Amino acid sequence: MLNIGVVGCGRIAQVRHLPEYLEHDGCHIVAVTDMNMDRALEIARQYHCHADASAEMLLARPEIDAVSVCVANADHAAVTIHALHAGKHVLCEKPMAITLDECQKMVDTATKSNRVLVIGHNQRLLKTHQFVRNLIASGEIGQVLMWSSRFCHGGPESWSIDKNNIWFFNRERSAYGALFDLGIHKIDLMQYLLDDHVCAAFAITATQDKKDADNRPIPVEDNAICMLHMQGGSWGTVHASWTCYGKERNNTVIDGSLGTLRIYDHPVYACIVEKKTGEKSYYQTDEIQTNEKQTRSGIIDEFVRAILTGVPSVNAGRHALSSMRATFACLTSAQTHRIVEINDSWING
Ligand SMILES: NC(=O)c1ccc[n+]([C@@H]2O[C@H](COP(=O)([O-])OP(=O)(O)OC[C@H]3O[C@@H](n4cnc5c(N)ncnc54)[C@H](O)[C@@H]3O)[C@@H](O)[C@H]2O)c1
Repeated sequence: MLNIGVVGCGRIAQVRHLPEYLEHDGCHIVAVTDMNMDRALEIARQYHCHADASAEMLLARPEIDAVSVCVANADHAAVTIHALHAGKHVLCEKPMAITLDECQKMVDTATKSNRVLVIGHNQRLLKTHQFVRNLIASGEIGQVLMWSSRFCHGGPESWSIDKNNIWFFNRERSAYGALFDLGIHKIDLMQYLLDDHVCAAFAITATQDKKDADNRPIPVEDNAICMLHMQGGSWGTVHASWTCYGKERNNTVIDGSLGTLRIYDHPVYACIVEKKTGEKSYYQTDEIQTNEKQTRSGIIDEFVRAILTGVPSVNAGRHALSSMRATFACLTSAQTHRIVEINDSWING
C-alpha cells in the first residue's frame, strides 16, 4: 500500500488526483494541504485524511511515500524538489516548472534521490493516442510529412476553483498563458506520437481578447501558434488558445506518405485512417476528456505502476524536460521573432 499526500486541493486535485487515488486499491490518502486552509479542511473531511497547515508539514510525515503536486505553476519546482529531498515519489502537474533550469533540477534531484518523478502529461495515456503511436510505428501512414494539433478552449476562468482573480491570470503565479497551459500538452503529445523530437521552432504568442476580473487585458498570452520541425523531417503546427468560445477543440491530424490520420476529429470515431488508395478505417477507441467531461485520466495508475514496478513511466520527468525545451524554444521564438534551433546534445541527452 502506498501512502499518499496531495499538495494543492484545487480543481485538478478534486476532479482527477484525489478520486483516482481513492479508486486505486494500492493507495491510501494520508494528508492534504492547501494555502487555503478551509479548502484543505473540507477536502480532508471528504477523504477522511489529515489537513496539514503547509506543504512542509505534509512532506515531513515519514509515513507518506508519494505526493501529487497540484499547486500554481510558479511553485511546482520548489514543492517537487522539497518532496524528492524528503524521499517522496512525485507526480507533478504540468507545466513542469517555469524555467528550464528548474525542470532540469527536478530531473536531477529525482535521479540523485532515486525517486520516481512523473509529470501530468495525461494526453499520452489516452487509449487513442497509444493506438495511434503504434499505427505510426507500424508504418500505417508511411513516412510522416506534415501534421497539426490544437488544444483550444474558452480559458481557465470557468475551470479554476477560485473563480475571481484566478492565479492563471497572475504572471507571478502562472508565468505563462495558453502556450504552457495547453500548448505543452500537444507539443509533448506530438513528440510521443511520432517518437521524435522538436529540433526547431518558430512561434507567435498574443493576447487577443482575454480580460482579468478588473477588465484589463491579461498579462500572459491567450493564444500561441507554433510551427515545429521534427528531427525526423516532418513539420507541424500546434495552436493553443484560451479564446475558443465555441466547442472545445482538442484534436490532431497527421499526414503521411501513405495516408492521413484524424484523431478526435470526428463526432463518433476517435481515430480515422484515410489511405492514399481511398480505403478508410474507423476506430472507436475512446473519447477525449474535455473541461466539462472529465474521464479517468490514468495518470495515477501510471504513477503508481512506475513506483511499484521500477519500470520507467512514459510520463517520466526526462520526457517532460524534452517537451519543455521545445516549449521554451517556442517562447524564445515568439519573443525574438526568429526560428530557434534545439541543440542536438539536448535532444539526445
Ligand atoms: N494535466 C492537466 O490536464 C491539468 C488540467 C488542469 C490543471 N492542471 C495544472 O494543475 C495545477 C493546479 O491547477 P488547478 O486547475 O487545480 O488550479 P486551481 O486554481 O483550481 O487550484 C489551485 C489550488 O492550489 C492551491 N495552491 C496554489 N499554490 C499553492 C501552494 N504553493 N501551496 C499550497 N497550495 C497552493 C490554491 O489555493 C488552489 O486551491 C496547475 O499547474 C495547472 O496547470 C493540469
